[in-house]
Amino acid sequence: MKVIAVLALWVTLFYQGYSNSLDSCQGRCGFGTDNSFSCQCNPSCERYRDCCSDYTEICKAGATSCKGRCGEKYNSQNECHCNSKCTQHKNCCSDYAELCDRGGGGGGGGGGGSVITDAELKALSETLYALDSNKASASELVIDPQALVPDSQTSSQSDLSPERLFLYLNEEALFSRPTYAALLAVLDNYHRMTGQVEDFSAQQLAEQETFLKETMSNTELGRELFAFLYTKGVYASEEEFIQDLKMMWFGLYTRSNNVMDSSGFEHIFAGEVKKGKVSGFHNWIQFYLLEKRGELNYYSHSFNGPWTTYPDVIGMQFMWDGYFKQVGSAVIGCSPEFDFALYSLCYIARPGKQCRLSLGGKELIIQTYTWNNSYYGDRKKFIGSAFPATPRN
Ligand SMILES: *[C@@H]1O[C@H](CO)[C@@H](O)[C@H](O)[C@H]1NC(C)=O
Repeated sequence: MKVIAVLALWVTLFYQGYSNSLDSCQGRCGFGTDNSFSCQCNPSCERYRDCCSDYTEICKAGATSCKGRCGEKYNSQNECHCNSKCTQHKNCCSDYAELCDRGGGGGGGGGGGSVITDAELKALSETLYALDSNKASASELVIDPQALVPDSQTSSQSDLSPERLFLYLNEEALFSRPTYAALLAVLDNYHRMTGQVEDFSAQQLAEQETFLKETMSNTELGRELFAFLYTKGVYASEEEFIQDLKMMWFGLYTRSNNVMDSSGFEHIFAGEVKKGKVSGFHNWIQFYLLEKRGELNYYSHSFNGPWTTYPDVIGMQFMWDGYFKQVGSAVIGCSPEFDFALYSLCYIARPGKQCRLSLGGKELIIQTYTWNNSYYGDRKKFIGSAFPATPRN
């Protein structure tokens, strides 16, 4: 009896795997783009016109049945859900118990922080890349990287580039968008010197909340990141996700003088000055703003990624009002939500390690560091740093 049941289950799984690999969205709704399948089942397939023929029927918002959806990844756009957590969240489709919950957990779903594979990171980053509708276009942003220096010369502190790096940005087009406006509002809330305490007004704390809401809750890109982490069991709700991001990014810790002078957000997005040098600083919008105000002088670059459209990745040498940065790498021309999502994903999935992503078929490695000297919540670590790794040249 037991043998027959196991055999039947095996045949069922085999058959599902077989039909999936052909052209069905069964069990794949919301998953990242995966080229091992002949067609795709996430929102970007509509744009790329490579959705499976049953995508609309099975995956689109409005599907009210779990038929073909048992154990699928959580997708906030669906009316009801079919993963193992829906009972807990009371948002299962009415036929979930009948079709999916066959005594003991249904199939798939998260389950207490399951392993995130490199293939999943690559697939998700491709999806986020495709969803970055707020990135700059070639007509909205023009850069001139000028001098390229080898790694051995990044410390020479010589201004080899007479022009600015950012020649033109259509501020009207980009800065009016909610996520850019929200980033601009938080960027100027910091004292760049370590050892100088950070304190925030109620207004500035509200700006942090707005930034999280605009980038992560109000964009398709942010919702896709949450959906993935939810399915993986990393977070049980969107509130938990946002709250954890808030602590890991904006929670204060001390880098110097025993005062609360730093945070992951300040270090990575705004940049700091420590022991006479620029520390952190991995955001292109902050670079643009300071360069435009004449407070930052671009010297050269030692790395230029393989991308020919935005976002691109560059490793820059520059002087910030008297303080030098030897290699400040940044994703250039992406939206604030894209930067924030990639760094968050890598910090959550590969804390303190190299995180291998894929953007438009080309590899991007993000290196993150954990802050080990103080904690939030249940001994959770703040973000120490996160930035694009720049391969040796
Ligand atoms: C922080 O802790 C991690 C994990 O224990 C370790 O790999 C890393 O080297 C530590 N970082 C520092 C700066 O000590």
